[in-house]
Amino acid sequence: AGRRTLTIVKPDAFANGKAGLIIALLEKSGFTIKAARVMHLTTAQAGEFYGVHRERGFFGELVEFMTSGPCMPLVLERDDAVATLRTVIGATDPAEAAEGTVRKLYAESKGRNAIHASDSDENAAIEAAFFFAGTDVLAS
Ligand code: CMP
Repeated sequence: AGRRTLTIVKPDAFANGKAGLIIALLEKSGFTIKAARVMHLTTAQAGEFYGVHRERGFFGELVEFMTSGPCMPLVLERDDAVATLRTVIGATDPAEAAEGTVRKLYAESKGRNAIHASDSDENAAIEAAFFFAGTDVLAS
């Protein structure tokens, strides 16, 4: 399994003042930060990033939420990065997330759920390239 994944600390976490605590939990979970930026997504960017969900009933709500304030994409590194990060962030719905996970601790709802994580090595590479130029990601 690959050593890199892409995460996004979402606008609800910035609105609630929890972005730093979430990043601290990621570091405590063994991830190191290889790239980061704070940005306010446009509607076009959010729609493209979540294009796979375009036909879903929650797509409009998702784009509206993701453009509601700043977010923070990061490239993270550790062994077995994709699977480990998905365990650390917990289930999409915080009501179903395990104790100690990012979403159990910091998410408000299934939509306002604090954090995104790539679901495969292939998507991690695609998603990292969406937000970062190769030169903006540390090589090692
Ligand atoms: P994420 O893992 O970033 O990728 C897809 C997102 O769609 C997911 O997080 C949720 O925030 C959002 N999502 C999934 N299901 C729902 C839903 N029923 N209502 C609103 N948003 C949802």
